[in-house]
Amino acid sequence: MDKMLARGSGSGSTARPRPRAVLLSMVAGAAVVAATVAVASSASAGTTLGASAAESGRYFGTAVAANKLSDSTYVGILNREFNMVTPENEMKWDATEPSQGQFNYTSADRIVSHAQANGMRVRGHALAWHSQQPGWAQNLSGSALRQAMVNHVTQVATHYRGKIYAWDVVNEAFADGTSGARRDSNLQRTGNDWIEVAFRTARAADPGAKLCYNDYNTDGQNAKSNAVYAMVQDFKARGVPIDCVGFQSHFNSASPVPSDYQANLQRFANLGVDVQITELDIEGSGTTQADNYGRVVRACLAVSRCTGITVWGIRDTDSWRASGTPLLFDGSGNKKPAYTAVLNALNGGGTPPPTTTPPATTPPPTTAPPTTPPPSGSGCTATLALNQWQGGFVTYVRVTAGANPINGWTVVLTLPGGAAITNTWSAQPSGTTGTVNFRNVDYNGQLGAGASTEFGFQGTGVGPSGTATCTAR
Ligand code: XIL
Repeated sequence: MDKMLARGSGSGSTARPRPRAVLLSMVAGAAVVAATVAVASSASAGTTLGASAAESGRYFGTAVAANKLSDSTYVGILNREFNMVTPENEMKWDATEPSQGQFNYTSADRIVSHAQANGMRVRGHALAWHSQQPGWAQNLSGSALRQAMVNHVTQVATHYRGKIYAWDVVNEAFADGTSGARRDSNLQRTGNDWIEVAFRTARAADPGAKLCYNDYNTDGQNAKSNAVYAMVQDFKARGVPIDCVGFQSHFNSASPVPSDYQANLQRFANLGVDVQITELDIEGSGTTQADNYGRVVRACLAVSRCTGITVWGIRDTDSWRASGTPLLFDGSGNKKPAYTAVLNALNGGGTPPPTTTPPATTPPPTTAPPTTPPPSGSGCTATLALNQWQGGFVTYVRVTAGANPINGWTVVLTLPGGAAITNTWSAQPSGTTGTVNFRNVDYNGQLGAGASTEFGFQGTGVGPSGTATCTAR
């Protein structure tokens, strides 16, 4: 600890002023001095977070609250240091659609206008989320909620079309802990496909925005991030539009920066998506906090598809967890040691993001994505698509009605020995091993002639593939 403190203060307060003092005696203009010092310390070193991140093609952003845009200290730091902003609350469902069908963009528009006027880009946050829903949406369920979600995504993404760098299309959809399951929510209960529906809807409304999945406790490799990984892999295999994964990165002593943070960012990047650090804050102070910030920044710089970092607020007093003093500026707007650590890390270089998409290094799924079989006679058919990884799998089953409409269906399939189902969506399974009957649930039993629906299940071991027996009612 002592050694680290000594090293930190040595480079910060002794090394820097010395050339400045020498130069001061040599040249007259203060502006020339500042520029000369910056060049002297490193050929490419920036002097602000945004400029330094831009040296490697990345952005450095912050969450912004509209009601602080009249605070001159706040705006001064914002305009000087950052080149990406995320509205902290103003684009959430409760803010943008307080009554169903009545949209209010006043506060969010203020942030977007401020960003545009000052050359900053905008991350949109968040289109579909279980939290911060307006009361009317909290009270909806089933197809009414699904429709309301689709309308919300369409309206908001259309309003901001062309102005958003990346949207957090879906936020926090997976459960904490070891289940690897989806988080239970009113949106999840509309059917497991709600996430892909949200992504497809967002793409249609704003084809130019990158579309991200965003979550917390996914910063290292664990059951939750494995489940997100499987979803992204599946989306890529089936052509569901997804461009990026956001890692919120809210850290403190109970939830420290994981040792495999960089490796986790890299494995997602290898799926062919950008990765971004979207809500960074690290509780603490002094050297320990600074060191942690430095680690996070270096991890992003080491991953070529890590395209940017956003901190979740400017001053400690602006933070949603202000008591943990988790940000880069103190309550008075002074730079903290954490700021210097971030700037130094950004100036330490990194691999620039590639201009072309690198090929994914993870193997493709072992079976092709499902294609809808032609309707044949009456009854139904069932086609399986398997995403297999070491020790686990997700199987998607497409059920297609034949030449006549059906009122219900049952799919029977036999799992390979040793396989066990841990989670099923959009169907009711009779068991978890061996031969399992999957029966439709309320909302997906009725299918018109030739129409189809999809259900799926996740499990351990080796999953089933091919076709399965389908019986119609
Ligand atoms: C937080 C805001 O910072 C607070 O002002 C608000 O009261 C609650 O939400 N994950 C997210 C963010 O995706 O939207 C949350 O922001 C913090 C956790």
